Amino acid sequence: MSYVVLARKWRPAQFADIVGQGNIVRTLMNAVKKGRIHQAHLFTGSRGIGKTSIARIFAKVIRCPEAKDEGENGGLSSCDHCASCREIAAGSSVDVIEIDGASNNGVDAVREIRESAKYLPSSGSRKIYIIDEVHMLTTAAFNALLKTLEEPPPHVIFVFATTEPHKIPATILSRVQRFDFRRVTAAQVQERLTQVTKAEGIAADPGALALVGRAAEGSMRDALSLLDQVIAFAGQTITIENVRESIGLIQSQTLLGILRGVLERKPLPALALVEEAFQQGHDLRVLSRSLIELVHAAILAKVGAQRPSGLELSADEWDEIRSLSALRPLEELELIFQALHHGTDWIARSPQPKIVLDVLLVKCASAEALVPVEKMASAGSAGRGPAPSPVAATIPVAEPMRSAPERAAPEAVATPPAVPNLSAPLSWEEMVRHFRAQRPRLASLLEHASSHRMPAADSVELEVRFNPDNSFKAEQLKQKDLADEVNSFCTGRMGRTVRVAVHVDASAGESQAQVREREAREREESARRAIVQHPVVQEARALFGGELGPVERAAPMGGPGA
Ligand SMILES: Nc1ncnc2c1ncn2[C@@H]1O[C@H](COP(=O)(O)OP(=O)(O)O)[C@@H](O)[C@H]1O
Ligand SMILES: [Mg+2]
Ligand SMILES: [Zn+2]
Repeated sequence: MSYVVLARKWRPAQFADIVGQGNIVRTLMNAVKKGRIHQAHLFTGSRGIGKTSIARIFAKVIRCPEAKDEGENGGLSSCDHCASCREIAAGSSVDVIEIDGASNNGVDAVREIRESAKYLPSSGSRKIYIIDEVHMLTTAAFNALLKTLEEPPPHVIFVFATTEPHKIPATILSRVQRFDFRRVTAAQVQERLTQVTKAEGIAADPGALALVGRAAEGSMRDALSLLDQVIAFAGQTITIENVRESIGLIQSQTLLGILRGVLERKPLPALALVEEAFQQGHDLRVLSRSLIELVHAAILAKVGAQRPSGLELSADEWDEIRSLSALRPLEELELIFQALHHGTDWIARSPQPKIVLDVLLVKCASAEALVPVEKMASAGSAGRGPAPSPVAATIPVAEPMRSAPERAAPEAVATPPAVPNLSAPLSWEEMVRHFRAQRPRLASLLEHASSHRMPAADSVELEVRFNPDNSFKAEQLKQKDLADEVNSFCTGRMGRTVRVAVHVDASAGESQAQVREREAREREESARRAIVQHPVVQEARALFGGELGPVERAAPMGGPGA
């Protein structure tokens, strides 16, 4: 006997078997019960959520002479053994005609339907036409259909189904009763899969079915096809790992490896794993969403939570996450979570998602909360090399060019030359560049300065001025550990003692960062003016009224990923 795919084998035969779509089912049942059935219906919604199934069930109960009505709030079911029910189920009924609109999309096909619709059904009182993919009809075909819909023979009922309702002419839309089908939820899928596996005698880990449920993205048909795939791979026992492997989800070891790289501040191994997953054809949006979930789990672990039951994590994976979460203080885990969260959107929109993800991971690996040195030493010293003594950062370091003492140098970012040229003058740009690579937040503080004076031959002071708008930044830079880091960099680089003086000065002008922000604002404002004044936009506003939303510049195109 050949294998019947689960989606076919488990096609619902009755309204009661339908998962979700509650309002639609109720409305159709009531119409049949009250004998007030609309003559044309439009079923819209994505693939595999029950449009065809419900159309057939609807046809069955309309035509079944022995249909059972459970009363006011009860269900309605067909008998499934009369001639009509059996013919419909077998697809051989001459009174329930299923037409694929994609291959019968011309005016001739519709004329044929109109011709045959005139004749009474061969049995019973109703004849039902189910036209799938109805949006594929040509304009001429729609016009021919419209004529029928304007004056349909009283014994005829139409059910149109489409995944693309926006392609249906308004003239047709105005003559149909429309039903918008919803995607099924992951929980509904999981519940159905539990029922199916049980009946099929398959032992399945609930987490494994939850994973299939989410991978199906709201389509019950996809969920059942995925389950076929998993069964073909795993046989009668289904675990989380063999779901991952058989349907090509990213292995949790890969995800955990990426997380490990990020939390250990070693972006290179993380990037290598991303590259590998990318080469294998994995969707990077899915990858970054999964990473967010792991960081979320790490945060839960950090605050002492038990293994959450809703997550598809094995006990071993949870243990590993718990030990990884010790590598960073909570503040940094939160920063990483935020960065990934914002970044996922960006990855989804970018024509070059791989590049965005790479940069994002490097950024996450170097993420650093502005926490006083003393606190960091106790909070998150694991994986950062020997814990610094609280005074280490306050003493000008003897060796030149040491990076921040408490941290191993990040690997994937440009680091300054290892041997400094003590005789070359130190420029502000060089210093900012150094910190941008080593301590991005510190670099960003420096970029908010309005002016600076570098220590010269005759001075030991690096003077940094902020305008009052940035006094908060000035205060942060005055914090001992940050000032000491600047000191020790300058001192190392110049071979003699340097100290940092931070001033807030009402006469200080705009900072570099403020200039950049102002220029960006001005660019957007002028782009906006240009758009608002564009004749097409003016016309659109005249037509629709209302205001223009925020102006968005299109993502840059080009490059290998585009
Ligand atoms: N709402 C649902 N409840 C139960 N099973 C469903 C549902 N939607 C889809 N299925 C499963 O998917 C298969 C295909 O569904 P179908 O009704 O043809 O979807 P559509 O016409 O919306 O693409 C069915 O045979 C059934 O196994
Ligand atoms: Mg269908
Ligand atoms: Zn019947």
